[in-house]
Amino acid sequence: MGMIAVGLLGLFLLLLLLPGMLLPRTGLAEAPSVGSEPPLAEAARRWFVVGVGVHDALPGRTEDHALLLRHFRSVTPENGLKPAAVQPREGHWQFALPDAFVAFARRHGLQVVGHCLVWAKDDRTPPWFYPAGESDDDRALLLQRMSNHIRTVVLRYRGQMAEWDVVNEALDDGTHWLRPSGWSRLCGVDFIAWAFRWTHQFDPDAMLVYNDYRNELPGKREACFRLLRQLREQNVPVHAVGLQGHYEIDEVPYEDLERTFEGLRALGLKAVISELDLDMIPRSRWWADGGRHREELSRWNPYPDGLPPDLLDRQARQYARLFRLFRRHADVIARVSFWNLHDGQSWLNEFPWRRVNHPLLFDRQGRPKPAFYAVLEVLNEP
Ligand code: GLA
Repeated sequence: MGMIAVGLLGLFLLLLLLPGMLLPRTGLAEAPSVGSEPPLAEAARRWFVVGVGVHDALPGRTEDHALLLRHFRSVTPENGLKPAAVQPREGHWQFALPDAFVAFARRHGLQVVGHCLVWAKDDRTPPWFYPAGESDDDRALLLQRMSNHIRTVVLRYRGQMAEWDVVNEALDDGTHWLRPSGWSRLCGVDFIAWAFRWTHQFDPDAMLVYNDYRNELPGKREACFRLLRQLREQNVPVHAVGLQGHYEIDEVPYEDLERTFEGLRALGLKAVISELDLDMIPRSRWWADGGRHREELSRWNPYPDGLPPDLLDRQARQYARLFRLFRRHADVIARVSFWNLHDGQSWLNEFPWRRVNHPLLFDRQGRPKPAFYAVLEVLNEP
């Protein structure tokens, strides 16, 4: 009897412990945990829509759903709708990922941003778009390819997109007005005007956005307003400007944003903050001085185990100041979207070198950081 009892007890203990022994330890830690913190988008509701750019395979990434659905009301597919993904070769369409993405979003009542129809950079335009020469016929051919691309994509999702990023990054960083590219060389500003006209024709209810980076800074801001004024004079249907908002700690351009919102208000246009994050291991030196800091930077990885408390606090204060500014200009701002769901998924862990970065409101486990609570407090202030 005693032997049997001991044996049964042993078996019982083994069954109790077995699952814990077999489960991968890291698997549990990787899934974002969603706590009981108040939903961000809900707190922002009286000011603007809060969204996020997320992985294209969203529907199958069940570990992301709880965090996403708790805090955000709008989603932007990170890559799947870009020209190189949708039509890598002429007439060779790839819609499986964006179809599933849009269906998921609609099932869950999320708005979708169609990002993007034209990315006016040579290295982001599938090479087949560009004709061989630069004659009038070549120009017409480029516009025809663009029109065909826009018609096919926009009609497929007509009425399902809240917004389209119609043209992305067409302004130059240097002394030109438009970025030198096959687009501007052949068509000047016309490709932008036609892209907006055609998108509006195929999806008349969507908000149409011109999206760019650093376009709140003097210089590029002037170039952006010149573009907007010109489009408006030609009655081109442009509704909003996307300010990507890829900022760096201690370099947030508060005053320039202020000027930009004022200018947009005067023009009767909306702003969207389309890709917000706050790089904690700033990257701008990567491009400085002919790239001679790159070797050193590529070994710079100061916070592999998390941000120290003083930096978490600094980040929180800068995010709070930014959202206080957004709140003050909420009549102009239609949406504020972060770029990626939590720190572990940020593109800034890889770009332009590999490092453990912490640019968002949620940490790698999906837990709200001090910046989250600071933003929440600003949104909730009476
Ligand atoms: C730009 C683009 C985005 C994305 C980011 C980097 O901002 O607009 O689609 O590619 O770069 O992830």
